[in-house]
Amino acid sequence: MLKKWALEAIQPHVNLSAEEIGALFELPPSAAMGDMAFPCYMLAKAYRRSPQEIAVNIANLIDMKGVKAEAAGPYVNLFFDRDYYAGMLMEALQQSSFAQSNIGQGKKVIIDMSSPNIAKPFGIGHLRSTMIGAALYKMYQTAGYEPISVNHLGDWGTQFGKQITAYKRWGDDEALKENPIQESLRLYVRFHEEVEQDETLEPEARNWFRLLEAGDEEALRLWTYFVEVSMQEFNRMYERLDVTFDYVLGESFYNDKMSKVVQELEDKGLLEESEGAKVVRLEDVGMPPCLIMKSDGTTIYPTRDLATAFYRHNVLKAEQILYVVGGEQKLHFQQVFAVLDKMGAEWVKDCTHVHFGLMKFEGKKMSTRRGKIVYLEEVLDEAVARALQVIEDKNPELEDKYQVAKDVGIGAIIFGDLKNNRVNEVDFSLEDALNFEGETGPYLQYTYTRTQSILAKSLTLDQERETEGIENQEVMYAEALGESGWILLKLLNRFNEQLKRGIQNNEPSVLARFVLDVAQAFNHFYSQERILSEEEHLRTVRVTLARLTGESLQRTMNVLGLRTPNRM
Ligand code: ARG
Repeated sequence: MLKKWALEAIQPHVNLSAEEIGALFELPPSAAMGDMAFPCYMLAKAYRRSPQEIAVNIANLIDMKGVKAEAAGPYVNLFFDRDYYAGMLMEALQQSSFAQSNIGQGKKVIIDMSSPNIAKPFGIGHLRSTMIGAALYKMYQTAGYEPISVNHLGDWGTQFGKQITAYKRWGDDEALKENPIQESLRLYVRFHEEVEQDETLEPEARNWFRLLEAGDEEALRLWTYFVEVSMQEFNRMYERLDVTFDYVLGESFYNDKMSKVVQELEDKGLLEESEGAKVVRLEDVGMPPCLIMKSDGTTIYPTRDLATAFYRHNVLKAEQILYVVGGEQKLHFQQVFAVLDKMGAEWVKDCTHVHFGLMKFEGKKMSTRRGKIVYLEEVLDEAVARALQVIEDKNPELEDKYQVAKDVGIGAIIFGDLKNNRVNEVDFSLEDALNFEGETGPYLQYTYTRTQSILAKSLTLDQERETEGIENQEVMYAEALGESGWILLKLLNRFNEQLKRGIQNNEPSVLARFVLDVAQAFNHFYSQERILSEEEHLRTVRVTLARLTGESLQRTMNVLGLRTPNRM
């Protein structure tokens, strides 16, 4: 809104398009320098004058109601009259359409997220992928795209040959039902231990996987069983994180779709033999060759990703595909994209590997080799338990404290991840993530409850006083808002712009930063102005701002996957 008005002020006086001007605007570093700044460097060449002179010139020409323009060096600083503009800003925020932009225009965006591996633990990378993917999903949705989440389960590959072999030799059905991942892991580890001494194991495993790819009944039955027990575990995680998928399409789904890709690679002369295996050479684009088919005729991970990409483009009609997968798979995706490019799939330009860094817990790296799913769930349990402890200390009477503890504990984990730039490594500390005074989920949730209790109190006050509303009174925004309220109000208006920036970079942390700024600005406002003032004309404006802040916090937190209890 503010940008739109700033544009109206500037545009008549410069020879630039609205987009160009919009991209140039800056937020002044301090309130004393105005609400919006327009730099004039860009114009110097065309006007053959110094930016300083141009700034003075433009500032003199601006003549718009409620706008004061001042040249400051190469900048034109714009000041918006608060009594005149604050009401309009509040009005804009109250429109139900405020947070429903349509920059996406219904564009279909596939988000490949979570994607854990069957019979292996749900790793920390899968957790990050789930949380980042879920946030991106809601961000795209809010901006008018049509996001489609796909859980690309690792449910195919030679490891299932190993799994079946190990199960047939040492499997324990009881244990598998009881503790599927741990039992699967035990079998996996045992296989790798014994394979050193027993040379029949490796060929047997390969044979089982070949049988599986060929649709052998027993192999399929055992495989289905492994998938089912693992899925139960994974679903428990998804339920706790409040995440659902539009599609759960594992790698196995592409089993009958790969020969077509291999054939096409063959037809296009892209396949080459290399030590019995088939590869696509990528030296010309500076990468090692991409393995397509092993010497025993079985397919591998990249081949399945090729078939997957075609399916998503041709059948699901994706216009954009995001792969939310850890940074350690960079080369894999570069290779897959390069092969697609060689195959003439021009749409590969719309495929993006949304990679992210490692996450450690309290300095400890998590390896997938040990039964870490237990550990991950333990982290969630611990977060909830600690949140409950805080509630017991502060507010033991709280009605639905167990639910609130869940919301706060899980929210702490989600926000503790999302507030970081996704490509960075995260060293996660539960203590920090749960600190009610830090830059945390609980801090946001607490701030939200503060807005809600103000609203509740103001309702009671209004009822007691039977006020008439302020329709016939002059509203004095500048006085009611003060400096801190004006800053908060301007900030609330930046939601759409921040959402857009978050989407451009596939970066939930942009919104995480934004919502932290909103909470901080609100708490500052709360400390500066008496919101439930005795003077009605002040109270109305302040309470409205508190309500709008609550809505903004809730909207943004929900996009990030955090719940907003009304009390805590
Ligand atoms: N299952 C894989 C892993 O855990 C991640 C899959 C990511 N998605 C993809 N289309 N390759 O490493």
